[in-house]
Amino acid sequence: MTDTSFRILALNGSPRGRNSNTDILLKTLLEGAATQGASSETLYAVDMEIRDCLGCFACWNKTPGICVHKDDMPRVLEKMLASDLTIWATPLYHYGMTARLKRILERTLPLAKPWFVRKGEHYTHPPRYPEHTTRNFLLSNCGFPERHHFDALVREFELLANGDDERFLGSLLCTTGELLHVPEMRQTLSWYFDAVRTAGAEIATSLNLSQETVEILRRPLIPVESFVLMGNAHWNVPGETPPSVEEALGPDRNRP
Ligand SMILES: Cc1cc2nc3c(=O)[nH]c(=O)nc-3n(C[C@H](O)[C@H](O)[C@H](O)COP(=O)(O)O)c2cc1C
Repeated sequence: MTDTSFRILALNGSPRGRNSNTDILLKTLLEGAATQGASSETLYAVDMEIRDCLGCFACWNKTPGICVHKDDMPRVLEKMLASDLTIWATPLYHYGMTARLKRILERTLPLAKPWFVRKGEHYTHPPRYPEHTTRNFLLSNCGFPERHHFDALVREFELLANGDDERFLGSLLCTTGELLHVPEMRQTLSWYFDAVRTAGAEIATSLNLSQETVEILRRPLIPVESFVLMGNAHWNVPGETPPSVEEALGPDRNRP
């Protein structure tokens, strides 16, 4: 990434890599950003060798800024520092990011210094490279139809940014994400993909999503009850009977 346009580094943390719902969303978002002249590079966690942080703090004392591991992470950090925005893209796994992406996040420790310093309401670690603004955006999709599944993940990014709006620009969170790769849904969901593209263009121009785009992106992809019944019908598990409509939707719910 050597040009002078707005540079985006995207990290795709799905174990499904290029075949993931995450990648469908990411590519659409980056398409939108490209319409505004932004350049981007996507790194796939599945392609990289990233070892676990050992917690040795060598990157803070013995060799400041340099980790003991010799793997792909220094390349990721270099690209992060050379970009204007990092997109953390992950399917939701147990209310959080995937282990692969978390491993990358933990290995960003060399970007901070060990000191405790007060910033606003809280104590934090100062950045090693204060001349570089670390802007982050979260992109996630999950299997369930309810948005509260993302609460802990969003909170994690808010805490990491320590109240600095510039460090955490916001998020694009898609429920019922398994619908994204269904070819028959492509046409029905064109309104959603258009909104994701618009979101990419808005991030590249104003580092922000407009209220209008946020509201569109929060709409369910299809009615929730239809999704639940479709989902249950999709599984074919030897020896198991799927739940009845009543069991699946509860006795009080409207039938689709
Ligand atoms: C180990 C595992 C944990 C998951 N945890 C959640 C969860 O907490 N909430 C949820 O709504 N979906 C959960 N899912 C569903 C995935 O988020 C969903 O299938 C997603 O569309 C996969 O996206 P991808 O194709 O980008 O990997 C989980 C899936 C797996 C395999």
